[in-house]
Amino acid sequence: MKEADHRLLQPLEGQPWEIDPYINQGGYEAWQTCVRENTPEKVIAQLKQASLRGRGGAGFPTGLKWEKVLHHRSQERYFVCNAGEHEPGTFKDRYLLKHYPHQLVEGCLIAAHTVKAKASYIYLNAEFEEERANFEKALQQARARGFLGKNILGTGLDLDIEIFEGHGSYVAGEETAMLESMQGRPAMPKQKPPFYPTDFGLYGRPTLVNNVETLSNVPHILRKGADWFAQVGTERSPGTMLFSLSGAVNRPGVYELPLGMPIRHLIEECGGGVPNGRKVKAVFPGGPSFSMVGPDQLDLPMDFDSLKKAGTGLGSAGVIVVDDGTCMVQHTLKLSKFFKMESCGQCPSCRIGTENLEELVAKIEDGRGTKKDLEKMLQICGFVKGTGFCTLVTGASVLVQNSLHLFRQEYEEHVAQQRCPFTPALAASG
Ligand SMILES: Cc1cc2nc3c(=O)[nH]c(=O)nc-3n(C[C@H](O)[C@H](O)[C@H](O)COP(=O)(O)O)c2cc1C
Repeated sequence: MKEADHRLLQPLEGQPWEIDPYINQGGYEAWQTCVRENTPEKVIAQLKQASLRGRGGAGFPTGLKWEKVLHHRSQERYFVCNAGEHEPGTFKDRYLLKHYPHQLVEGCLIAAHTVKAKASYIYLNAEFEEERANFEKALQQARARGFLGKNILGTGLDLDIEIFEGHGSYVAGEETAMLESMQGRPAMPKQKPPFYPTDFGLYGRPTLVNNVETLSNVPHILRKGADWFAQVGTERSPGTMLFSLSGAVNRPGVYELPLGMPIRHLIEECGGGVPNGRKVKAVFPGGPSFSMVGPDQLDLPMDFDSLKKAGTGLGSAGVIVVDDGTCMVQHTLKLSKFFKMESCGQCPSCRIGTENLEELVAKIEDGRGTKKDLEKMLQICGFVKGTGFCTLVTGASVLVQNSLHLFRQEYEEHVAQQRCPFTPALAASG
């Protein structure tokens, strides 16, 4: 995609928090229309027509979610922007917060107003200091122009966005855990169903939760229309997505591409290929919770449905590239440690399952593993998959299952040689 075609990452002059460069590009027009017309149903119809899907991981239709909250019988509703972002390999929300805070402020205002929220928050990862500073300065500038605060644009409307400093754990980004922590309770997920935030959110009231990137798309869709939005992307996943590209590439970073672009394009054209003359060994197209794909699958289109059909997923588009010099057992161990550390411990299957899996992978990597351990690992994966209140334990088991499936031979070599074949053998002493 050419720079001029960018939607969320459209170049802006000046400092990111300065409001004028954003206004010069049509910023806050959609918000002003929303305030003056006050027709939430029309806003929702536009989002539905655009088929915008959530960018936080699940790809849920945004218009439908907003409609559920607006039509809830309870008159007390809340809005929370989820800026928890704590998954390894995902860093696009912090990029948007830091470099494009105004489109997010505008998206939040539109969302909160559309669902008639009593109060609105942004749940912000506490580690994002610079991002927070830029976002706060953007809020101040928007307030000074009368776009938020009291008596917005002289209409009598009051609306503000409060920053809630996030917990800084992976699970705390899961929406029900996030809402728990915002109420002063441990950041532990709740069972869905029945505890969907659209019904039982903050203070037990319907709550709209959306991801930073999802909300950043909203002002553009309302201003330019659903047809414009669908000019790129696929039929069922229109628009662009921000891909966080990391791992074995020459140019890691955040790249905005139309949904449906092949994985190869991201790695080669955007990322400049794999460094040091190495080749792709595997790619996580949707972060560590979704299956890897092999080098023979790099032409797969990156959109919600195509990746699901291929047995993996897009998640929040944290694409991690692994090169052919990497020990997959070691790599799997690193991510298994992450899952174990981040398990909140609430569901026994997750608490025990992530620990057992990490122990077994460590055993193989250390050269203490047996063939029986490989079967045990698969057995545990089968037991724990899908058993948690959130998807953490499923992610942990998919990782091990998929790694063993694709790289079984490597695991067997570790067992046969009683050491990691990727690390040089110790020279015999004496
Ligand atoms: C373990 C876990 C961590 C998550 N972390 C985040 C996060 O940091 N940010 C986010 O927007 N969604 C995260 N999600 C997804 C949210 O629960 C939720 O689906 C999302 O915020 C909804 O917004 P969307 O519809 O705009 O995608 C996470 C989910 C899980 C299971």
